[in-house]
Amino acid sequence: MQVQVHDKFFRPFITEQQIQTRIAALGTQLAQDYSQKNPLFVAILNGAFMFAADLFRYCDFPSEISFIKYKSYQNTKSSGEVNKLIGFSQSVKGRDVIIVEDIIDSGLTMAEVLQDIQQLQPNSVEVVTLLFKPDAFQGDFETKYIGFEIPNQFVIGYGLDYNEQGRNLRDICVLVP
Ligand code: IMP
Ligand code: MG
Repeated sequence: MQVQVHDKFFRPFITEQQIQTRIAALGTQLAQDYSQKNPLFVAILNGAFMFAADLFRYCDFPSEISFIKYKSYQNTKSSGEVNKLIGFSQSVKGRDVIIVEDIIDSGLTMAEVLQDIQQLQPNSVEVVTLLFKPDAFQGDFETKYIGFEIPNQFVIGYGLDYNEQGRNLRDICVLVP
């Protein structure tokens, strides 16, 4: 079944159930690595809000969460520049930081976030992303925790948007060419 968002059509690609199963596993993995560290999750708005909320609930150990807002996408393509709309409000110095992102595409947004966060002297920084597009990636950083590797296609749903619409879809849906 296809859904229309603005002028485009999308079809289900990763189901709600598959997403939840994978996030539960990521939570288990993070518990092994962070349960004694009181990590600070830093989620990137807007896209990661839903993933962050679910992931955080699967992380059953002492931890904190904070939000930053960066924007690079226009329509269905990266604009090539990253706008910082909300920066870090919570102290990051000495903390074990886990950056939470919905999707890493070119890697431009995350490269910028990592550069900014390093200046705040955290004890450690790792990245968890729900989706990763290896064929689009141009960065030189490591992403330790990846939910799903996907082909270089435009997706929406579960927080991800096409010009602000489609974030409320329960499945991740892919653009029908
Ligand atoms: P990057 O800077 O190219 O890695 O893009 C990262 C940001 O662009 C993500 O945080 C998303 O908000 C957005 N983005 C990248 N790919 C997609 C997609 O397929 N659908 C919706 N948003 C995307
Ligand atoms: Mg995003």
